[in-house]
Order: sequence, then structure tokens, then C-alpha cells
Amino acid sequence: MTFEEFSQLVRARRTQLVMDQERGVDISLINQLCTEASYAPNHQQTWPWLFGVFTGEARHGLGNVTADAMQRNGDTEMKVTKTRTKYMRSPVLLVVGTAPGETELQQEENRDAVAAGVQTLLLGATAMGLGSFWSSCPKGANDDVAKHCGWPQGTHITAMVYLGWPTRTLPDRERPAPAITYFS
Ligand SMILES: Cc1cc2nc3c(=O)[nH]c(=O)nc-3n(C[C@H](O)[C@H](O)[C@H](O)COP(=O)(O)O)c2cc1C
Repeated sequence: MTFEEFSQLVRARRTQLVMDQERGVDISLINQLCTEASYAPNHQQTWPWLFGVFTGEARHGLGNVTADAMQRNGDTEMKVTKTRTKYMRSPVLLVVGTAPGETELQQEENRDAVAAGVQTLLLGATAMGLGSFWSSCPKGANDDVAKHCGWPQGTHITAMVYLGWPTRTLPDRERPAPAITYFS
């Protein structure tokens, strides 16, 4: 791959949720993406990434677990109701967790490694022609979602990624120039 091709791929990845509801995503593609994500840099080789693949009715179950936690935490009825069905908006909802570290530093570095892995996954999805959307775990629902996925206590939900075949392509977006300071 040339740098120009890499640069095109990076810019082609956009957060988008307009997806073909009728067209499923072959689970082998999801497996490939999770495998590529696991090649992200990882200090101390803790392999902290955890993946939960939700399709079909399981997306409803995830929505209900998340919504119940939000309700318990006093979220508005409107938000709670929306959450019950929101994971149905794409054929696959991929929950990405970070396994807890043994120290505070390891915890932080695990989260950084998993976030790097998520970006790899999003770029891979873009290369496959898939649309993707990195969303946060709703406030107060982290532990319920982790438990629902069968992950250890202390797992941080790094991303809830919507994946599906897009029905539109977003143009790339200009970004402010990065802040770069040169030291010599
Ligand atoms: C850690 C993280 C959490 C995010 N959570 C949300 C979210 O909950 N809802 C949302 O609309 N977008 C979320 N996003 C996506 C950003 O809003 C999106 O990347 C940004 O608007 C830039 O758009 P682009 O990805 O198309 O370049 C999240 C992104 C990151 C990195």
C-alpha cells in the first residue's frame, strides 16, 4: 500500500449510521476485523481486548440491559425508551471491552491499546466497504453491559461499534491542522 492509499483509507472512514437494514454482515468479516484489531500496540502484552458480537434479537437484549441501567440511574424516559431499540439500527453491534489491569498504569495503558485496536478495526471495516459508528457506552451502564457480555468486574466498555453496509458515502471532512511543536 502506498502512503497515498493509506491516507485515502484514513479519510474515507467516517462515523455513519445509515445502513442497509436488510443486508447482514458475514460473521467471518467481523472475526477478521477483531483479529486485525488485536495487532494494535499493547504495552506488557496483556492482550486486553474483549469483543462481544451482537446480531439479531441479541441486539434487543443488549438494548434492554443498557436501558434498565439508565433507568435505574435516573435517565429521562425518552432516552431510556430510545436505548431499548437503538442497537437494532445496524445488523451488527460490536461491544469492545478493555480487561482490567493489575495497576492503575496498566489499566490506563490497556484502555489506550484497546482504543488503538478500535481504530484499526474501523479502518479495516472501511477497507471492506462497511460503514461504522463508534459510540460510547451510555453513562452508568458500563458494568451492566460488561456483565451481560460475561466479562470480568472492572472491565471498561471502550466502544459500542455499529457495523453494516452503508447506503450512502460521506465525504471526508476537513480537520483543523494538528498542533505540532518541533524540538531540535
Ligand atoms: C471514544 C469515542 C466515543 C464516541 N462516542 C460517540 C457517541 O456516543 N455518539 C456519537 O454520536 N459519536 C461518538 N463518537 C464518534 C465521534 O462523534 C466522531 O468520530 C466525530 O464526530 C468525528 O466524525 P468522523 O468520525 O466522521 O470523522 C465517539 C468517538 C470516540 C473516539
